[in-house]
Amino acid sequence: MSEDGSSFRAPKGTRDILPPESWRLEALYDLAADTFAAAAYAPIETPMFEHTEVFARGVGETSEVVNKQMYTFPDKGGRSLTLRPENTAPVVRAVLEHNLHRGALPVKLYYAGPQFRQERPQKGRYREFFQIGIEAIGAPGPTIDAEVIELGHRFLRDAGVEPHLKLNSIGHPADDCRLGYNRALVDYLQARVDDLAPGDRGRIETNPLRTFDSKEGRTREVMSTAPLITEHLCPDCKAHFERVQDLLRSVGVPFDVDPRIVRGLDYYTRTAFEFTAGGLGSQDAVGGGGRYDGLAESLGGEQIAGIGFALGVDRILLATGDNGPSRGSRVEVYVVAAGEDAARPAFALACRLRAGGIGAEIDHMARGMKAQMKDADRSGARWAAIVGPDELAAGEITLKNLREGVQERIPIDEVEGRVRS
Ligand code: HAM
Repeated sequence: MSEDGSSFRAPKGTRDILPPESWRLEALYDLAADTFAAAAYAPIETPMFEHTEVFARGVGETSEVVNKQMYTFPDKGGRSLTLRPENTAPVVRAVLEHNLHRGALPVKLYYAGPQFRQERPQKGRYREFFQIGIEAIGAPGPTIDAEVIELGHRFLRDAGVEPHLKLNSIGHPADDCRLGYNRALVDYLQARVDDLAPGDRGRIETNPLRTFDSKEGRTREVMSTAPLITEHLCPDCKAHFERVQDLLRSVGVPFDVDPRIVRGLDYYTRTAFEFTAGGLGSQDAVGGGGRYDGLAESLGGEQIAGIGFALGVDRILLATGDNGPSRGSRVEVYVVAAGEDAARPAFALACRLRAGGIGAEIDHMARGMKAQMKDADRSGARWAAIVGPDELAAGEITLKNLREGVQERIPIDEVEGRVRS
């Protein structure tokens, strides 16, 4: 309820997306379908809620998303369910459940829809927000990394965002790679534990890499001289990372290597990346992603490689404002009914035009002829098709070109052809 108790409001952290912004959202979904279908990605829908374990095991208990932000509830059967806070773990769950990975590889999928995280709302940060994402599952080599990143970059550009791409490799969990690096980082952090912000000290135990994500000035100071993962990658991870960079350069996708990009979800291996955009304040990440070669195993399946990204639709809409792609209602012909007897044939004409793919609008407010003509101008229609008693008697209508102000009587059957020409 609002403060005076008179009406309901959308829950905190959620928002209604109204026209014309909703048209821009639709245009982004259309752009996603076009962009990703042209690279052989197929759409997937997974449920809005999953068994909580999918996220606990998939995304990881040490991530903030899982341990602080999930909307978790028991259903009437006592099962613990969670509104999806992200869609990568659900997609991999679906791939495993339906054995898609036993067919042609890689399995390439895209999705668009709401995600839910109980975060503190602010500009660009909501509790229900929308993501567009892709996942490519089953290909371990670097070409798919480059494909995924190039698609994300191009999508953002076509959506009107000038993205800045930050790229990193966080290696794989082995002693000669990330585990060894973790030890070096823990040693470094333990030696400076008193300089860290108190709230960050626990990260040394739980997930030292994530100390790079701290917003605390004291911690950031410590992290500015911390050892970097890029200096500890094993030869295979290093070669993979170099090849990804080489491929991106070959297609002119600009990027900066940023060894401090560690990502907030636990499933990442090797390639990790983020897209940022200007004008968004502190929530400037418009998308992020990476490789997750251990995720299928965490969900009880076999080892299957995977990589993908998700883009924050709300932030893209914020960043592009009126400059992004849009759509709108498409009224080409406004059918004007002059007099009560004309209402029925006017309605029939509007339906016939629509069925033929021509956008048509009609009065529903019992307006007089003059008011209908005004409404026709407001609707953006190019044509007014006037159905009146004289015209009806002759099986004709008056077709007026609203841009040029000229009109003529034509047989009713010729309206479609005339409007199309
Ligand atoms: P993520 O970095 O958690 O990654 O989210 C991706 C994007 O979703 C962010 O960059 C941001 O634009 C948007 N986003 C996240 N939280 C919010 C929020 N509370 N309000 C508004 N926008 C938000 C993932 O979700 C991974 N599943 C990405 C991925 C796909 N990795 C591999 N495949």
